[in-house]
Amino acid sequence: MRIDIISVLPELMESPFQTSILRRAMDKGLVEVHFHHLRDWAINKHRQIDDEPYGGGAGMVMMIEPLDKCISELKSQREYDEVIYLTPDGITLNQKIANTLSIKNNLIFLCGHYKGIDQRVRDLHITKEISIGDYVLTGGELAACVLADSIIRLLPGVLNDEQSALTDSFQDDLLSPPIYTRPEVYKGLEVPKVLLSGNFARIEEWRHEEAVRITQEKRPDLL
Ligand code: ADE
Repeated sequence: MRIDIISVLPELMESPFQTSILRRAMDKGLVEVHFHHLRDWAINKHRQIDDEPYGGGAGMVMMIEPLDKCISELKSQREYDEVIYLTPDGITLNQKIANTLSIKNNLIFLCGHYKGIDQRVRDLHITKEISIGDYVLTGGELAACVLADSIIRLLPGVLNDEQSALTDSFQDDLLSPPIYTRPEVYKGLEVPKVLLSGNFARIEEWRHEEAVRITQEKRPDLL
C-alpha cells in the first residue's frame, strides 16, 4: 500500500510514522507513506496557498491551484483508489471504513486547514470525505494520522499476531471483553475462574457473553 499525504504542516505528522508499529510497517516495506508540502505547489513567490473567501466572511480558504496541481501530478504517476479529504463535515470514521480502505493499493489524504478547501477541489478530485469525530481540530493532520494508523495496522504482516486485529473491539460490532494477566489475585481482585479453567470452548463463550454485556452497557447503539 502507498499513502500520499498532502499538507501545509507535514512536520506535525513526523513522529507517529517514525515510531513503533507504523515505523516497523514502513521498514518492512508493507506500506509507503509520502508527505507532500502543499506550498511546493504554490503559484506565486510568496508560496501562498490560502486566500479570502468569495462573498466575504471569516477565515481563509485553501486555494484551488496548488491543490489541483499537487493532486494532478500524483494522479499522473499512478492510479489512486481514493482521494480522501480529512474534514469535520465528512462521514465519521469507523472500523468498517478502515477495513475497506485497508484492501486498497494507493490512497491520497488531503489535510484541510483554515475554513477548508475551495469547493471545486472537492468537485474535481475528492472521492471520500472523512471525519474522525464530531469536534473540530486545528487541521486535518492529526486526523490523517488516526486514519492511517487505523488502516496500516490491518495490513497483513503489520501486527505480530494477525488474529489480534480480527478480535479487536468493533470488528464484529461488539466491544472487547475484559482481559487479565498475572497475578491471579491482586489486592483481593480475582481473575474470573473460567479464564483459568483451560476449557477453551467455555472461555470463548464467556468472552462473547461479556462482550455483549459490555456493549449493551456502554454502546447499546452498536447492537
Ligand atoms: N479537521 C478538523 N477537524 C477534523 C475532524 N474532526 N476530522 C477530520 N478532519 C478534521
